[in-house]
Amino acid sequence: MAPTATAAAPKENSEKNDVGIRAVLLGPPGAGKGTQSSRMQKYFNVCHLATGDLLRAEVGRGTQLGKEIKQKIDAGNLVDDDLVIKMVKENLDAPRCAKGFLLDGFPRTVVQAEKLEMLLESRKQPLDGVVEFAIDDSLLVRRICGRWFHLASGRSYHEEFNPPKVPGIDDVSGETLIRRSDDNPEALKKRLAIYHRETVPLVAFYKTRNQHRMVDASQKTEVVFDNIKKIFSGAREFSQATFRSSNL
Ligand code: AP5
Repeated sequence: MAPTATAAAPKENSEKNDVGIRAVLLGPPGAGKGTQSSRMQKYFNVCHLATGDLLRAEVGRGTQLGKEIKQKIDAGNLVDDDLVIKMVKENLDAPRCAKGFLLDGFPRTVVQAEKLEMLLESRKQPLDGVVEFAIDDSLLVRRICGRWFHLASGRSYHEEFNPPKVPGIDDVSGETLIRRSDDNPEALKKRLAIYHRETVPLVAFYKTRNQHRMVDASQKTEVVFDNIKKIFSGAREFSQATFRSSNL
């Protein structure tokens, strides 16, 4: 039976939705950033800005820029800082981001983090938190290499952890599922090496700003989501107060 509204559950939801959040999701490929984002987006009523999705949309348009981006993504390399910063900046003004945003896969370098910080300061929109998805690399090969997508909707499946009703077919549209061109063991090895070299330093960056939080991303999807909800409970009030006192 489909869940129906109860007295208790919607109250918690509406409180969260009214407040919104501004969050960064930090984690290696396959840690579950996209999986949690789709839940968080609904729960907190905020927009989901995944730089990987924005870049793949440009690739899909078949432009010269898209061709250059595809080469980098397929090789597991990072795309230029300035390009992703520009993409995020353009999207933050969208009405769907009015109550807040989830930045998934951005920032990924210290340069990106510094530029984001300046951008958010100028917009008077401090981050409520940066969630690090902590997980051992050995678990990620299985997650990435078993992942399938429905291209039109972005729905994601996993042949072991979240299988479609019919293998290779989207549950809703009946259309064929695809694999991402960088979801293979060779590209993943490169993506992980770059994550450790370029992105892990952001943990220290956000710890010094008291914005770093951590979840154990090896747990079940529901458990990870519950822990994320706990992290952000009351976070907006705290970050606003900190922002006000540092701007006195
Ligand atoms: P991007 O698209 O951001 O990819 P990524 O960071 O490598 O992350 P993924 O989307 O692969 O993983 P995810 O953590 O979202 O995992 P998911 O939830 O799907 O970036 C791609 C490329 O774009 C980069 O390599 C780079 O070239 C470029 N790029 C992007 N941003 C950039 C930037 N800022 N600067 C420069 N370049 C940039 O989960 C994975 C699977 O596991 C799923 O099948 C899911 O069902 C399953 N799963 C999830 N959670 C669980 C769980 N708790 N238990 C069991 N299974 C689970």
